[in-house]
Parts: sequence; structure tokens; C-alpha cells
Amino acid sequence: MTKIITIDGPSGSGKGTISQRLANHFGWHFLDSGALYRLLGLAVNRQGIGYDEVARVVEIAETMSVEFVGERVLLEGDDVTDTIRTETAGNNASKVAAIPQVRAALLAWQHDYAKPPGLVADGRDMGSVVFPDAMLKVFLTASAEERAKRRYKQLKEKGLDVNVRELTVEIKERDQRDMNRSVAPLVAAEGALVLDSTSLSIEEVLNLVLQEAGKRL
Ligand code: C5P
Repeated sequence: MTKIITIDGPSGSGKGTISQRLANHFGWHFLDSGALYRLLGLAVNRQGIGYDEVARVVEIAETMSVEFVGERVLLEGDDVTDTIRTETAGNNASKVAAIPQVRAALLAWQHDYAKPPGLVADGRDMGSVVFPDAMLKVFLTASAEERAKRRYKQLKEKGLDVNVRELTVEIKERDQRDMNRSVAPLVAAEGALVLDSTSLSIEEVLNLVLQEAGKRL
């Protein structure tokens, strides 16, 4: 069976960086499930479809053409790597992600990433729904203020014009939507190692996860 580590948690908890570093460390595959929801949010937006038009949104989820080329992400052949990283794209992603039929449509796609020698899966429901039999499940969190500060730094580095107060409000709004939706809400999976990274560095979190993974490999 493929070895799987799941890293779930809210936006800005550091799970993207930790997941990517873990995948590199082990030489495993990497699934950025949030990117799929971001891509779908963008595709829906570009086609001028409303987020409440469930059947059409699901149809796009089933048919959209997505390619991961190194660090770049293409939607219908168009490079959208930076476009899907904005806060607006994150918010649109969380709107399509609240639709149960959309989550079902993306399930098989996500399962396809589980290939030898192993997979690190980053998201909200990787341990609770998509890969419940994962060898190690981590739930990584941090205070909303700290997460907003991290996002601010990340977005500034990318040259985007952002405001830390607005970011904190948006992060809290997105948390609320992700935690309160009826299907696959953001919760720590049963048996997950819960880590609060508010006052931990990336290296410290990575070492804690590696220690735990080492016990199970
Ligand atoms: O992780 P990221 O910030 O890229 O995710 C964007 C949005 O996609 C999240 O706010 C959440 O609503 C949704 N998502 C999800 N399930 C996942 C990954 C992301 O619902 N496994």
C-alpha cells in the first residue's frame, strides 16, 4: 500500500511549505488539493457561471483541463500560477468547495495521486475524508493573526498589494466558511497529530513531523 502523509489545516498555517518540504525529503508525490479548488473557482468565474449553478459547476469540475508543469499550473493551457494564489481566488475556491457534489467530483482525481513510493497530501480533508487510512495525519494550525501576517509576507514578496487588516478579516471569513460547511468541514481527523505553529519555525514543525513519520515508516 502507498505510504501517505496528510497535512490539513487552515490557510496560512504553513501546511503548503511543510507538505512540499516533506515530499521533497522522502522523494514522494505531492498533492496540493487546494489548487484544484482554486482552479475550479477560477474556471467557473471565467465562464461567467454563478457559484449556485451546481450542475454547471460540477460539469466544469469533471471536464476542466489542468496541467502541473514543474512549478507552473495551466488551466485550459493558460498559465494561471499567480492568478490562483490571490485572496479572491482563495475565497472563490472556498465557495465551490462548499458544494458536496463538487467534492465528490474531485475525489477520484485526488485518489489518483496516491502512487508509490508515497504521497504527501495537503488540504482541509485529506486525513478525514480523502485518505482516511493515511500512515500519518497532521493537523497544522496557528492563530488567525499569525496566519494573516504570514500571508501578508508571502503576497508582498510576490509583489501583490495587500493590507494585513483586510487579510485577517478575509482569513477569518474563509475559516468560518470552511469550518461550518455541511460536507467535509475543516476539522482535525481522528488520530491526527495536532500542531500549533503560531510560535514555531518551519524547521521546528518539519522536525516534529519527521520524528513522528520516522516512528511509522
Ligand atoms: O489550501 P488553499 O488555501 O489553497 O485552499 C483554498 C480553499 O479550497 C480553502 O479555503 C477551502 O475552502 C478549499 N479546500 C477544501 N478542501 C481541500 C483543500 C482546499 O475545501 N482539501
